[in-house]
Amino acid sequence: MANSHRKLIFNISIGFYCSAVIQICICSQFTSSSIDQFNKDRGAFPVAINGEIFPWHELRLPTMVIPLHYDLFVHPNLTSLDFVASEKIEVLVRDATQFIILHSKDLEIMNVTLQSEEDLRYRRPGRKLTVLSYPAHEQIALLIPEKLTADLRYSVTIDFQAKLADGFEGFYKSTYRTLGGETRTIAVTDFEPTQARMAFPCFDEPLFKANFSIKIRRESRHIALSNMPKVKTIELEGGLLEDHFETTVKMSTYLVAYIVCDFNSVSGTASSGVKVSIHAAPDKWSQTHYALEASLKLLDFYENYFDIHYPLAKLDLVAIPDFESGAMENWGLVTYRETSLLFDPKTSSTSDKLWVTRVIAHELAHQWFGNLVTMEWWNDIWLNEGFATYMELISVNVTYPELQFDDDFLDMCFEVIKRDSLNSSHPLSNQAETSTHIKEMFDAVSYKKGACILNMLKDFLSEEKFKKGIIRYLKKFSYRNAKNDDLWSSLSDDCLESDSTSGGFCYSDSKTASNTLTFLRENVEVKQMMATWTLQKGIPLVVVNREGRSLRLQQERFLNGVFKEDPEWGALQERYLWHIPVTYSTSSSNAIHRHILKSKTDTLDLPEKTSWVKFNVDSNGYYIVHYEGRGWDQLITQLNQNHTFLRPKDRISLIHDAFQLVSAGRLTLDKALDLTRYLQHETSIPALLKGLEYLELFYHITERRNVSDVTENLKHYLLQYFKPVIDMQSWCDEGSVWDRRLRSALLKLACYLNHAPCIQKATELFSQWMESSGKLNIPTDVLKIVYSVGAQTTAGWNYLLEQYELSLSGAEKNKILYALSTSKHQEKLMKLIELGMEGKVIKTQDLAPLLHAIARNPKGQQLAWNFVKENWIHLLKKFELGSFPIRMIISGTTSHFSSKDELQEVKLFFESLKAQGSHLEIFQIVLETISKNIKWLEKNLPILRNWLLISI
Ligand code: BES
Ligand code: ZN
Repeated sequence: MANSHRKLIFNISIGFYCSAVIQICICSQFTSSSIDQFNKDRGAFPVAINGEIFPWHELRLPTMVIPLHYDLFVHPNLTSLDFVASEKIEVLVRDATQFIILHSKDLEIMNVTLQSEEDLRYRRPGRKLTVLSYPAHEQIALLIPEKLTADLRYSVTIDFQAKLADGFEGFYKSTYRTLGGETRTIAVTDFEPTQARMAFPCFDEPLFKANFSIKIRRESRHIALSNMPKVKTIELEGGLLEDHFETTVKMSTYLVAYIVCDFNSVSGTASSGVKVSIHAAPDKWSQTHYALEASLKLLDFYENYFDIHYPLAKLDLVAIPDFESGAMENWGLVTYRETSLLFDPKTSSTSDKLWVTRVIAHELAHQWFGNLVTMEWWNDIWLNEGFATYMELISVNVTYPELQFDDDFLDMCFEVIKRDSLNSSHPLSNQAETSTHIKEMFDAVSYKKGACILNMLKDFLSEEKFKKGIIRYLKKFSYRNAKNDDLWSSLSDDCLESDSTSGGFCYSDSKTASNTLTFLRENVEVKQMMATWTLQKGIPLVVVNREGRSLRLQQERFLNGVFKEDPEWGALQERYLWHIPVTYSTSSSNAIHRHILKSKTDTLDLPEKTSWVKFNVDSNGYYIVHYEGRGWDQLITQLNQNHTFLRPKDRISLIHDAFQLVSAGRLTLDKALDLTRYLQHETSIPALLKGLEYLELFYHITERRNVSDVTENLKHYLLQYFKPVIDMQSWCDEGSVWDRRLRSALLKLACYLNHAPCIQKATELFSQWMESSGKLNIPTDVLKIVYSVGAQTTAGWNYLLEQYELSLSGAEKNKILYALSTSKHQEKLMKLIELGMEGKVIKTQDLAPLLHAIARNPKGQQLAWNFVKENWIHLLKKFELGSFPIRMIISGTTSHFSSKDELQEVKLFFESLKAQGSHLEIFQIVLETISKNIKWLEKNLPILRNWLLISI
């Protein structure tokens, strides 16, 4: 009876009100019939390493047994570089079974025992279990002689050991050099998405939330950190110490973390009493202070904004010397690449400061979005990453308004549009099963498109309503998992928390049936609208045609590199339809008009006569706009007459959309270039930089392809056109954030184009710096430029490499490495690659950005690409297939190609990889990008050439 009752609740729980009613809510795809199948049809099951049948054939774990609590003990040895460990997992059996399937990867399992609650009560020893291992699925099976009984709890004790991993995953070693030249080792974890299984056998899926009690044994020269505060330290015989940490809140395995190191820290207390500490290698301690200030401010902000306390008593942020990604949001113990956390006033630029602030804002947002409420499965990773990225905007705007992050956010949306307008894009919610595929989900679409459509929805619903909705979502799903629909329901649900809810309705004394109806209508509207943005890939194009006061709107799928005349265009459009919350303003008033475009075409009437219409006000919407007829000309006329009649972000989006439409064959390049002519008078720096970005891009394209006449003319045009602003720039760190970014961008361009005054000043500063033995402080805004100019002589290059080794500032090291990669000498570039492969002077974590930088150098592009082709196997030994670095290496060394021969070469290489069993989504993205580049050049090079001839 108990059993059937539980099953009934379980079935209900899959529906709308998952686990509001019950404690445990796991949406199972497996039933006990899968187990029966095992007994009937053993041939359908894989074979374990020892030759026996492995009783589970799915990548996802069964849900007959679920974890409740892990007692984990770990003892890493930083001399022998291995660890011994043991764990006791308390599990609940939901369906009678004879095996328990767990994840485990590269662990040596020594001993496994099982105890029932009764065994524990009477202190009976555990029964030893047989372990089968199936490495292809990173699973082990514990075989139980007698069936486990449903609804009972058991304890599984596992002793295991392993080497500290070599790479950046699981429980791995990281090293750093002290000022005195000594190399020291630390041990650190990094688990997301599927690497907790490399550190301890576990139910390594986000839905299996549990509590963790962690104990770490260490030497006295080290400290140990974990998610929770330390309760006590026990002294052991022989001088070892053992730290016991408080039991965690209920959480997913990928958020567990521990570190053994000898770092120093600075601490402060947030308004709520949470102790915040920043940890770094001892010699880098002085670079931790900005992070402390920022994390305290941001923690205060989030606790207030979400109206939910950060539930732990402490929050540690640690700068790890070897780190694969930018940062990781482990609950209470957030880990960062050094350049994402440390700020060195002498060498960190204003962009570096913005980056550190953004990363802290992002990871702290995850403490709610991701940690407190977690996506059910990795297919919806955008719920974590898109939200954390969106929250960067909200929190940084309030805590650091002077950083003016708004315009960077807009740029981020433009970046992902490039990717999302290729046919090889994917929907935000996308199937992901294997570890490689899951890793690939951490891409621009999940992060950036996720954030951009949330921003669009906020603009549609109003900030207040959106905020209320996400608070409701966080409160309702705290310590649980959620999916897309849960979010949409919370965002459209106007019920008060005190209202009673049932089956999607809300009831209260004050609110009557009409309220219920409004809620249902809105709920359906938001859900339907957002389904069009999350379940189908791509971005819409809104085509506007104005005749007098009548506006005809039409939507289609925007495709970069596929023209309307192309035969494939029609098929690529089929079945695409978005619910687009469009906004527009006109020359006649400041009002923002709103409309939802739900069908392919629609007609609107303007209230008054107007000389122009601009859609997508402030570029809050995720769509591109094309104006047919005289639409573009009317806007260009306005820009030339008085650009300030249009809002700054609208000017940026006009520049962006115009050049995107050129790539889609909808606007001619000369029209888009004509639009940039007004930039001489542009007063908004982000808008000016947007225009400059395209002109620079064309310069790099033609330079790489050796189209010397166009390159020369473009250089001439750029220097002539921007000369007044270039000459205005000082060589010191002064002004607002955007003044400083303008200075960096313009002087970088000027020196790149060999503008004599720029080269002269940079050379002078570089010589002074060398003469001072690296002690002179060069303004941070121009540091990279000065180094890059200095790197062009052999003496300068060698000196920079020496300084690279000595520098303790990650921000400075990045600038030096970039400068070194701009050398015109191939043997120097090759030396850098060799150093990166060796991993001592140039750390392996910096190899992917290094290859990317070398490939951007016209003298290095072939070198980098050949290297990747010839050393693919070696690269795969350093980074996992599907990881950030591997994807960066592939796209970074190929996506700038623009000839048919190069396309063919890349295609052949990818085919050979596929034949070896390596297949990545990025392959198709790269091939489409190169085809698009080829097409762009064929069509636009002659136009660019002519336009320059009449413009200079
Ligand atoms: N959760 C991610 C870390 C991560 C990345 C795990 C890839 C698994 C695969 C973390 O929150 C993150 O998003 N880090 C970003 C930095 C952020 C500011 C965009 C990163 O690592 O680049
Ligand atoms: Zn993230």
